[in-house]
Amino acid sequence: MQGVSKFPMPSATQIGSPNFKCDLSHLGAVRVSSLLLASCVILWCAAAGAVDTTGVKKFRTEIQPILKEYCYECHGDGTDKGKVVLDQFASDSAMAGDQDLWLRVLKNVRAGLMPPAKKPQPPAAHKLQLEQWIKTAVFQTDASNPDPGRVTVRRLNRVAYRNTIRDLMGLDFDTEKEFPPDDSGHGFDNIGDVLTLPPMLLEKYLTAAKTIVTRAVPAVPGVPEEMISVGRNFAGAEGLASSRTNRMAKSPNALNLSYYEHASVSNTFKAVHSGKYQLLLDFAANERFVDNQFDYNKCRLVFKADGRELHSKEYTREGGRRAKARSSNSAAP
Ligand code: HEC
Repeated sequence: MQGVSKFPMPSATQIGSPNFKCDLSHLGAVRVSSLLLASCVILWCAAAGAVDTTGVKKFRTEIQPILKEYCYECHGDGTDKGKVVLDQFASDSAMAGDQDLWLRVLKNVRAGLMPPAKKPQPPAAHKLQLEQWIKTAVFQTDASNPDPGRVTVRRLNRVAYRNTIRDLMGLDFDTEKEFPPDDSGHGFDNIGDVLTLPPMLLEKYLTAAKTIVTRAVPAVPGVPEEMISVGRNFAGAEGLASSRTNRMAKSPNALNLSYYEHASVSNTFKAVHSGKYQLLLDFAANERFVDNQFDYNKCRLVFKADGRELHSKEYTREGGRRAKARSSNSAAP
């Protein structure tokens, strides 16, 4: 642009007016390298395009009359109260481009500060017109077609990923070890634009997802913890008359109790978690016939947990049949 600034250029107010065309032949009369001129004219036309011509037209037809009536008394026709002048602009583009001035106008008019309270006030419709013009022509906002801009697709950084997995899945996944370090920008490691997703990391994400799900979600149905206490672990003050039974149980771990002697044995089970426990008592009643000897072979088995009777039954002549007594009891650590 510098090279041609000394040639007569259209004044700024002509831009956008129907008289001004990017007329090469007119300027070409001044002998300038046509290449330089051409590039200048193209630039000039591009700059002219930046001015919102409809906005400028609207200013003349709709806005200026409002300002003239309600503002020029103090901000026009040579007055500049508060150093604000609303009728002197170097060009249309300078007028429409003075965002600082029009923002102040918008704020003051909308807040009812201008015109001052004692002066005639523009009707609401005119205020609205002025507001709309500032928003659309000066700030180029378009409520009917808002442009939200580009949204960065975000990914979690290593710290956020680890915390999220811990909160959601209840397991600690060591992202420091599994993922490469995150890039940082402006000293922060959580800027969406900087946290890119290279294919290598995506592959690591897929592997991580599988690992995490495998660890967090059991593949087989949950089996409650089982604790077996063998008969031999039961002991009692009243003795364990194993020698007096006529038939010994087959298992070496079993506890043998006599049909003929009362016995009370116990064992302590410490519950780790509070809850309802299912108890299974596994036993057998054995007896043997002895010729010419009368014997009822009767016994009563009472099973208690925490003093509560869970099973009580008379057994007689069971022939060594295996029996199981199921019951449940609540327990707490
Ligand atoms: C009767 C005189 C008068 C009229 C009419 C008037 N103003 Fe003002 N205006 C003032 C004065 C005085 C100040 C400076 C006061 C101040 O800065 O506190 C001012 C300041 C301003 C400012 C600057 C405020 C700031 O925060 O920087 C703006 C913008 C403004 N006026 C816009 C308008 C507009 C738009 C109209 C018409 C709708 C208008 N004024 C009508 C007297 C007037």
